[in-house]
Amino acid sequence: MIRFDASGATGFLPSGALDAATARIDAAVRQVRTGTGAGPEWLGWRRILATPDDALLNRLDELATRIRQDCDVFVVAGIGGSYLGARAVIEALGPFFGGKGPEIVYAGHHMSGRYLNELVRHLEGKRVWLNVISKSGTTLETALAFRVLRAFMEKTYGAEAKNRILCTTSASGGALNRVIDATGYTKFVLPDDVGGRFSVLTPVGLLPIAVAGIDIRSLFYGAVEAYRMYEAEPAPVAAYAATRLALYEAGYRVDVLASFEPELKAFGGWMQQLFGESEGKDGKGLYPAVHAYSTDLHSLGQMVQDGERNIIETFLTVAEPGGTLTIGTDADDFDGLNWLAGRTLQEVNAAAYAGTRQAHSDGRVPVLDIGIARLDAPTLGALIYYFELATALYGYGLGVNPFDQPGVEAYKKAMFRLMGKP
Ligand code: PA5
Repeated sequence: MIRFDASGATGFLPSGALDAATARIDAAVRQVRTGTGAGPEWLGWRRILATPDDALLNRLDELATRIRQDCDVFVVAGIGGSYLGARAVIEALGPFFGGKGPEIVYAGHHMSGRYLNELVRHLEGKRVWLNVISKSGTTLETALAFRVLRAFMEKTYGAEAKNRILCTTSASGGALNRVIDATGYTKFVLPDDVGGRFSVLTPVGLLPIAVAGIDIRSLFYGAVEAYRMYEAEPAPVAAYAATRLALYEAGYRVDVLASFEPELKAFGGWMQQLFGESEGKDGKGLYPAVHAYSTDLHSLGQMVQDGERNIIETFLTVAEPGGTLTIGTDADDFDGLNWLAGRTLQEVNAAAYAGTRQAHSDGRVPVLDIGIARLDAPTLGALIYYFELATALYGYGLGVNPFDQPGVEAYKKAMFRLMGKP
C-alpha cells in the first residue's frame, strides 16, 4: 500500500552508516513492541488499532450524520495535535475534494483577536456546531477561543446551545472537564495513553473528519490494516526510519517534506508537528519543513537547489491522483502551449516531480520517496500509522523520548510571567 524508496539517498551516506542505523532501528522495533522504550505509557496509538472500538466509530458516525443535516459551519477549536490531524484528512478528502459535509473552520490555534472577531461575524445567521478539543483542557489558545465561541453559541441558541457544543478531552482533570460537568455538554474522551500528536484516529480527529463527510471506518481500518501488516513485517517502516537516522548522523539537519499534490499540504503540517515535537529535543533532530510543489519551487526551490547542503527531501507521491484534465488546443496559440495539447495536467505534474527530484539530487540533496497509489480514506489511514510508527522508531533510534514535549512549556512560562498570571 505504501512504497518506500531510499535509492535517491543511500549514495550520500558514508559506508557502514545505514547498517549502524538499521541496527538501532531494529532495537527500536523491539522497544516499541515490548513497551521497553522511553514513555511506554504513551503507546495507546497502537492499542487503539490492535483492539478497534467499533461502537465508538458507530457513535461518531451517527452523530456526524445528524450534525450534517443541521449544520452550515462546523467549528473545530484546538491547537497542535488537537486539530492538525483532522485538518490533514479533511483538506485531503473533505468538502473541496468531493466530501459532502458542511464548511469546516478552525479556531483556538492562535491568539488573534481579529480572527476571532471575523469568525464570529462569519458564523452569524448560519447553523453552527462547535467542537472544542483539548487533552489538557487548559491550553490558553483553545480556552480563550472557547470562551468567545461559547458566548456566541449561548447568545445565539440560548438553552439549545448545549446540544450543539461537543467537547473532546481527557477522561478527567482540566478546566474543560469542569465546564462539561457544569453544563452537560456532550463529551468525547481522548484516552490517557494517546498523546496529542498521535490522536488523529481517536475522537479528536475522527469526529470532525466524520462531520466533513469522510468515511471514518475506511480511514480507521486502513490504519488497522497497516498496523497488522507492519506487526507481521516492519521492514518498510524500519527502512525509512533507518535511512532518515543515517542521514541525520551523516550531518543533514533539514528534512523537506514535499508533495506535488496541493491537498497534501495540511498532511505535511500534521507530519511536521509529529516529527518536530517528537524528535526535536536534547539538541537533536531533523528540522521538518513542509514544501507544497510546484508552488514552493518558486520560493524555496532556490534554497533546496543551491543553499546550504544540509537538506534532505522526502517526496510524498500519489501514483493515480485522479481527476484527469486534458490540455486543449487553442486556435491562436498566443501562449505557445499547443505543444502540450492532448497531454494531461497530471502528466505535466508527474514530469515536474521527476524533473525536480533529478535536479535536487544533482544539487546534492539526498531524496527519499514515499509513494501511495491513490488518495483515499484507507490509504490516508495507513499513511497516518506509517508515519506514527516511523516517528516512534526514529525517536528511539535517536535516543530521545518521542512522546513528550517538555520544550513547549518554555514560551508559556515566559508569556504568563509577562502577563502577570497569579
Ligand atoms: O502533541 C501534543 O501533545 C501537543 O501538540 C498538543 O496536542 C497541543 O499542545 C494541544 O494540547 P491540548 O490538547 O492539551 O490543548
